[in-house]
Amino acid sequence: MGNFTFTIIKPTAVMKGYAGEIMSMIYKSGFRVKAMKMLRLSKIEAMDFYSVHKERPFYDELTDFMSSGPIFAAIIEKENAVSEYRKFIGATNPKEAKKGTVRNMYASDIQANAVHGSDSDENAIIESNFFFSTKERF
Ligand code: RTP
Ligand code: MG
Repeated sequence: MGNFTFTIIKPTAVMKGYAGEIMSMIYKSGFRVKAMKMLRLSKIEAMDFYSVHKERPFYDELTDFMSSGPIFAAIIEKENAVSEYRKFIGATNPKEAKKGTVRNMYASDIQANAVHGSDSDENAIIESNFFFSTKERF
């Protein structure tokens, strides 16, 4: 099991002013921040980042959404980070997210579901490399 994962605080959550509270929850749950930045993806970059979903019916809408405003991107560290973080954020659909999870507390709907979390150690590496150079990691 790897010890880091990659996360994004998505545009709606940033726009609503939830980024600070979500980062606070991340720290309080024992994750350490190894890299972090605020940026806005272009449509092309969002399409590239979510290319695994290109055949899905929501791909165009998802990549419009992910490029609609600034996001916070971060690499965070903890033992078994990928699975621990996915438990911590809750189900993709906030209606199914357990009480106390980030998506239960801060998601607007299934698309604007507050945060992204890598789904495997392999994707955590790919996604971290997409956003951060070695000089931006600590
Ligand atoms: P993420 O990749 O963002 O951490 O979310 P996830 O693994 O829980 O869900 P995934 O299946 O990878 O879907 C990626 C993102 O696409 C949007 N989505 N929309 N309209 C829909 O039915 C639908 N399904 C998924 C969500 O923003 C989801 O997080
Ligand atoms: Mg996913």
